Amino acid sequence: MSTAPLPIILDCDPGHDDAIAIVVAARHTEVLGITTVSGNAPLSATTRNAIIMRDLLGMSAPVHAGAEVPLVRPARHAAYVHGKSGMDGADLPEPSGPPASRDAVGFIIDTCRAQEGVWLVPTGPLTNIALALRSAPDLAARIAGISLMGGGTFGNSTAAAEFNILCDPEAADIVFSYGGPLIMAGLDLTHQFQAVPARVEMVRALPGHLAVVLADLLDFFSGTYRSRHHGIGGAAVHDPCAVMALTHPHLFQRKFAHVEVEIHGTRTAGMTVIDQRALREVPEPNCDWLTGIDADAGWQVIVDAITHFSH
Ligand code: RIB
Ligand code: CA
Repeated sequence: MSTAPLPIILDCDPGHDDAIAIVVAARHTEVLGITTVSGNAPLSATTRNAIIMRDLLGMSAPVHAGAEVPLVRPARHAAYVHGKSGMDGADLPEPSGPPASRDAVGFIIDTCRAQEGVWLVPTGPLTNIALALRSAPDLAARIAGISLMGGGTFGNSTAAAEFNILCDPEAADIVFSYGGPLIMAGLDLTHQFQAVPARVEMVRALPGHLAVVLADLLDFFSGTYRSRHHGIGGAAVHDPCAVMALTHPHLFQRKFAHVEVEIHGTRTAGMTVIDQRALREVPEPNCDWLTGIDADAGWQVIVDAITHFSH
């Protein structure tokens, strides 16, 4: 019996890997809307990129622009990974128009109040999600859960903090303590999922213009990754893991753990503190921490999703 696709809101900061997450979400979920946040690039750029990806896939989902800055800290971006536009490296079309609104938070609240069981899938800084949960505490019991890309057992922006969490630790603290179902695809997982050349060639070999665009994006993304990392075969394709955790759960190993976010540390702000102690007195687990992925099978999901939109 085929189950209906899960209804989700994808909150993102495209972003090369966000773009791949949009493809997988469009293929395997019911995307009620795409909301954008400042992160990899300023909000104007991430919103433009989300609209471009929505257009390339022929999606009907609206794009709503969200937070331009984090809750309390100044905005930070990642042009050193994604380029100034946030999606450098490919010949992209102009967006078909402006976002449906500049009130992503209102869209998230209204959508989750109108329909129970929506999954929130954030793949960028958590500012929009935190603002929605803080403005509408009833959402915590109405949504199906939150499946996010962020955090992990090591950092990429500092030794302790991953970029999405470091951009807005205060927002992440609200999200990790909201009390409902929570899935974390952190760097310890996503670095197992790399766009090595052979995998990029699987995309480039597909028919149609979309495959060329995505292969070019993946080549650019892998180029900046290889220039910055020792011993990495290609870019860690982080964000689709948060989508596949819902659509293809069998691809993952996971542990149920207690995870909190450090917001005060001079050297550790933005760290996701995962309690791995084998003690009886540890705090109640609050998070499905993804610890492993069948990377070849996961990549086939991406190739099949791109094929679906390629003609
Ligand atoms: O640290 C990786 C995360 O930060 C990914 O979501 C990437 O797109 C950036 O947002
Ligand atoms: Ca992202």
